[in-house]
Amino acid sequence: NHDRAIRPISLAEYIGQPIVKEQMSIFLAAAKKRNEPIDHTLIFGPPGLGKTTLANIIANEMGVSVKTTSGPVLEKAGDLAAMLTNLEAGDVLFIDEIHRLSPNIEEVLYPAMEDYQLDIMIGEGPSARSIKLELPPFTLVGATTRAGRLTSPLRDRFGIVQRLEFYNVKDLTSIVLRSAKKLGVQIDDEGAYEIAKRSRGTPRIANRLLRRVRDYADIKSEGIVDSQIADLALNMLNVDKLGFDHLDRKLIQAMKERFDGGPVGLDNLAASISEDKETIEDVIEPYLIQQGFIARTPRGRVLTDLANELCVNNE
Ligand code: ADE
Repeated sequence: NHDRAIRPISLAEYIGQPIVKEQMSIFLAAAKKRNEPIDHTLIFGPPGLGKTTLANIIANEMGVSVKTTSGPVLEKAGDLAAMLTNLEAGDVLFIDEIHRLSPNIEEVLYPAMEDYQLDIMIGEGPSARSIKLELPPFTLVGATTRAGRLTSPLRDRFGIVQRLEFYNVKDLTSIVLRSAKKLGVQIDDEGAYEIAKRSRGTPRIANRLLRRVRDYADIKSEGIVDSQIADLALNMLNVDKLGFDHLDRKLIQAMKERFDGGPVGLDNLAASISEDKETIEDVIEPYLIQQGFIARTPRGRVLTDLANELCVNNE
């Protein structure tokens, strides 16, 4: 993943998320002072806000290695056992999409998290037996889009829970300027602000748009990104003035035209725009809710007055 080159590696370099930063700096310092691994940490929030970055920062600040895997990749108990037995004392095990672990793997994780014990069955049938192994002390960092997706026994075993919020435009502007410097892109404050405003509160989107705006500037002008070049490039990329992308407009338009502004249930909405329910809940909707365009009611999703005043042109 080429975002590696521009990702912050220390908490001091990490922009935004002031509450998370303040808490983590204390928890990290306290764990270091006691010479213990930092407690198991759950990070949740919409895609692209820096969950993986934060996991790597935790390891880096503790001066340990990170081993990375994800919920869907761990198919058998043995897959997790292999990761756990490869850890060195204090290491971070990062499990992305941890809500997608299968129940039998969760069972292996509980004693590992609580007592650094690995309990697994080897073999099958009459010769099957269970073995217990001592694991080195380690930190599990789990990431998920929504804390509510985890089973409660798993959620309860995390001593630290951090929620990442959408970034404000000021912090995103700083992120764009920082990334531009690392990538050697010439950009002024207004150019960075234009990209930041139209990035759905999400650093991953801001950094992607920065690269595409840079392409545009390199070919269509002298390679310098100002607000005018950024605006032209973003229009070309179908990112509108509010920063909505194709999926945002598709959702709002469907709610307006097919469901008369709602309320509409998730199943109906998903069928009507041919997207997964999970994509709507985890990717599209959180930003639209945070910006006050969509609200959740007991009877379903509704468009707010703010959204009804909008004229959304879907290309
Ligand atoms: N790049 C992506 N996210 C960032 C953040 N929160 N701070 C600094 N650079 C970033």
